[in-house]
Amino acid sequence: MATTFDVVVIGGGPGGYIAAIRAAQLGMQVACVDDWKTPAEKPALGGTCTNVGCIPSKALLQSSENYEHAGHGFAEHGVQIKGLAVDVGQMLKRKDKIVKQNNEGILYLFKKNKVAFYHGHGSFVRGDANGWEIKVAGSSEETLTARHAIVATGSSPRALPGTTFDNKLILDNEGALAIPEVPKRLGVVGAGVIGLELGSVWRRLGSEVMVLEALPTLLPAADEQVAKEAFRVFTKQGLAIHTGINITRVTAKKDVVVDYLDGNGREQNATFDKLIVAIGRIPNTDGLGAENAGLKLDERGFIAVDEECRTNLPNVWAIGDVVRGPMLAHKAEEEGVAVAQRIVGQHGHVDFNTVPWVIYTSPEIAWVGKTEQQLKAEGVDYRAGTFPFMANGRARALGDTTGFAKILADARTDRILGAHLIGPMASELIAEAVVAMEFGAASEDIAIICHAHPSLAEAMKEAALAVGERTLNL
Ligand code: FAD
Ligand code: NAI
Repeated sequence: MATTFDVVVIGGGPGGYIAAIRAAQLGMQVACVDDWKTPAEKPALGGTCTNVGCIPSKALLQSSENYEHAGHGFAEHGVQIKGLAVDVGQMLKRKDKIVKQNNEGILYLFKKNKVAFYHGHGSFVRGDANGWEIKVAGSSEETLTARHAIVATGSSPRALPGTTFDNKLILDNEGALAIPEVPKRLGVVGAGVIGLELGSVWRRLGSEVMVLEALPTLLPAADEQVAKEAFRVFTKQGLAIHTGINITRVTAKKDVVVDYLDGNGREQNATFDKLIVAIGRIPNTDGLGAENAGLKLDERGFIAVDEECRTNLPNVWAIGDVVRGPMLAHKAEEEGVAVAQRIVGQHGHVDFNTVPWVIYTSPEIAWVGKTEQQLKAEGVDYRAGTFPFMANGRARALGDTTGFAKILADARTDRILGAHLIGPMASELIAEAVVAMEFGAASEDIAIICHAHPSLAEAMKEAALAVGERTLNL
């Protein structure tokens, strides 16, 4: 096989594999180098997202939610279930099967698009505007030459200072998605996205879950009204969330003892069977040969890029979690497509103002654009419209009426500046706001569009009507 390519992508996660496919579609000779290994040392394309992130977490969220509904929600519908039991082994097996289907799907797409796949660790050897030499260290060693290189090496979990992940007692996301039996006492450090999603999974399956969060509130990036509602609902569900804490020591022997100062500065400790640590992620640049190539990192260790994902080196690009911006699979994918198109001189479109966020708890949380607190801080004159799912017919029929939809619009022009949801199917409903914002829509546009009845989407229409103080169903 030729080892000279138009494009070599380092990393086969959602950023890298999508960039590789798009570059191949555009007629380039493309290779993708990825070092992910299964426990059996086999390749597994798809990166964090497919192997130990988006896909397996959503599989377990669904399985555990089914169990919770069967145990607590169905009786109200007149559906009686006797002998309900959890089979964690089967849940994990199902999750692993879904991951494998995705791994194989990406490999199939590579074959279909004639992307050459190299399993191994990629690193820069040397290069310049005429081409880059990239070494692949796998079961054998090869050197590829690339006219353009796209770095998509992703991120890894951050450990608490003085601790390491053993994935037996102290778990990162990978360990947290593979606990073989429901732990009785589960500690979660960090009330961020992973902490809330995976804390919810194990709580639903029967763990007593205590969440320890350093900040005074949870989800600082979310709209404050949404974060408050989330705190109220998750606490009611049984997640014991402690905010404003400072962990002073973690001792892992037979179980895990966490010493911490509580929100009032008092010394406390808690003992857990397992501890999930989800306090953010760090970019993967180790062993990339950044120093050989002169690739510049920023002060936080991310690869420094401009708005268009260009690094300081000619024809070297970087995308996804390894560069600035939200660590989200869809953001990585959009950057991958845009870079492939820029390489052939086409336009690459990524609008950072309309990247949606979704947290797949129950209720789901989703948002796009500015929060109310951001608009206040920026001194923007805005109007807010809110509509509770309690007043939505479809939500009542579903038996899932928690939360609300909220739309923020410019007070003068009515242009939508942000949309915030906590409630059923928020992950799907947010797409309407993303499209509207991408097209520069006003709240009036959503308010006058016919929405099917009864549907959860009517909450979006009513929130838009509420911006003009003319909700119909409240
Ligand atoms: P990655 O997916 O991390 O892929 C990078 C790949 O490059 C990996 O396979 C890595 O092994 C490989 N690699 C690294 N260095 C080298 C090298 N030198 N040579 C060869 N290969 C290398 N995002 C969402 O949008 N929605 C979600 O629901 C969601 N859920 C998540 C749940 C969890 C538990 C976690 C941890 C993350 C979740 N994310 C989610 C975030 C999402 O997984 C990341 O934003 C996304 O995977 C980033 O894609 P990427 O391509 O930049 O990097
Ligand atoms: P996060 O940034 O979402 O949350 C980390 C939390 O840990 C923060 O609230 C932070 O204040 C807290 N924290 C930091 N240090 C602490 C300490 N020493 N003690 C106690 N609390 C501490 O990071 P998380 O949950 O690790 O997830 C990483 C990223 O993965 C997310 O930011 C997101 O980009 C991505 N992700 C996306 C998902 C989705 O889109 N649904 C799901 C899961 C992850």
